[in-house]
Amino acid sequence: MNKFLNYYKEQNILPIKQNISNMENHLRKRENLYRQLGIPAIAFKDKNILEVGAGSGYNTLAFFHFECKKITIVEPNKNGIKEMKQLFENTKLFKMPEIDIQNKTIEEFNDNNKYDFIIAEGFLHSIDNAKDIILNLLDKLDNGGILVVTCMDYCSMFIEQMKRLVSSIIISNISDYNEKVKKCTEIFEGTMKNLKNMSRSIEDWVKDDILNPAFNNDIIFTIKDVIELINNDYYILGTSQNIFTDFSWYKDIDNFKELSNNYLKQYLMKRHNFIMYGQEETIINLNKSNKIYNILTNIRNFSKQYEENNENEILENILKFLEDLLIEFKDINNNIYEFIERIINCLKEFLETGKISNYKNIFKSGDIGRTQQYISIQKKYRF
Ligand SMILES: C[S@@+](CC[C@H](N)C(=O)[O-])C[C@H]1O[C@@H](n2cnc3c(N)ncnc32)[C@H](O)[C@@H]1O
Repeated sequence: MNKFLNYYKEQNILPIKQNISNMENHLRKRENLYRQLGIPAIAFKDKNILEVGAGSGYNTLAFFHFECKKITIVEPNKNGIKEMKQLFENTKLFKMPEIDIQNKTIEEFNDNNKYDFIIAEGFLHSIDNAKDIILNLLDKLDNGGILVVTCMDYCSMFIEQMKRLVSSIIISNISDYNEKVKKCTEIFEGTMKNLKNMSRSIEDWVKDDILNPAFNNDIIFTIKDVIELINNDYYILGTSQNIFTDFSWYKDIDNFKELSNNYLKQYLMKRHNFIMYGQEETIINLNKSNKIYNILTNIRNFSKQYEENNENEILENILKFLEDLLIEFKDINNNIYEFIERIINCLKEFLETGKISNYKNIFKSGDIGRTQQYISIQKKYRF
C-alpha cells in the first residue's frame, strides 16, 4: 500500500472535494487542461476511457459531458467510491456513458482490454512503483491511444515544501491530527480564502498538501523520468503547463532520439519556472539549472528530515542552502527572490527567539507553486 492510500485510510479521509457549484467553470477548466495537453475535448467523444485514482469522481464528470462511450474507473478508496456513485446518480445528462467502477488499486486490476485514453491524475508522481504502473498503463493503450499522468519535481514542490516546513515548526508541539489541521488552516486561510479558481477548501488542501506524507516520498516522478521512460513507440504529445516547443520538420519521422534529447534539454532549462505560479517564463543555461536543482535537492532532503526530527541544527542547514538559492535567483525573478528572503527571515527569527511572530502573515497570496505537471503520451499508430 502506498503512502497516499495509507494516509487516507489511517485518517479516514479523502480530502479532494471540489466545489463544482459552477459546473460550466469546472468543465471549462478540464477542457483547458486537455487543450494544453494536445487533446481537444471533442477527441473524447465516443471513446473508451480508463480513469485510475479518480478519487470522488469530480474530474470524471467532464468525460460524461465530452460524451465518451464508456468509462472504467479504478479507485481503491471506499469513501471515494461512495461519493462518486452519489455524484454520478445526481448527474442527469441526455446521453450517459457506460460506467464500470472497480474498487481496487491499479496493481490489483488486471483486465485485457485496450483503452483510447487512460487518465491517472494526482498520485503517480509520489509513489514508489510509478515507473512500473506507467509501463503497464502504456501497454493498455489501444492503437493511437493517449495516457495522461502527473509529475512533480523539486522546483515545482519548493514553495509547498517551505509551507510544510514553516507549518511543521509551528505545529511541532501538537500531536492531535485535527488540531494540526486547525492550526495549519489558521496559518494559510488569510492568504488563501480569496484565491480565484481555488476549487478545494483550505482544510482539504492542508490535509492533502501540508500534512500528507506522500509529499515526502523518496521517489518523485518527474517529466525527465517520463521522457527517459518512453521508447520510439510513443510521442510526448503535450504538457500542462505547456513547456515544449517543437521545431522539428514533420517529415522527419526517424528523429525520436533527437526529439527526446531536445525535450529533455528544454525541460532542464525551463523547470525553474515551476517554482512559482503566474511568473513570466525565463530560460537558463544547463549549468545554472543543475546548480539550482542541487540546492533544491538539499533543501528538500533537510526539510524532510526536519519534519521528522524538529531539530534546530537541520534548520541551520536549510538556511545555508536558502541563502545560496537567493543568490541564484537575484538575476532571474524578483518574486521568487523575495519569497526566499521571507523564509530566510522567518527561520532566522525562529532560531534566534524560538518563535515565529506574526505567523499568519508569512505567506502571501501569490506564493503558489506549479506543484503538479501533467504530461500526455501518445502511442504511435500501427498501420
Ligand atoms: C490526490 S487523489 C487525486 C484524485 C483525482 N484523480 C484528482 O486529481 O482530483 C489520489 C487518488 O489516487 C488514488 N490512488 C492512490 N494509489 C492508487 C493505486 N495504486 N491505484 C489506484 N488508485 C490509487 C487514491 O485513492 C486517490 O483517490
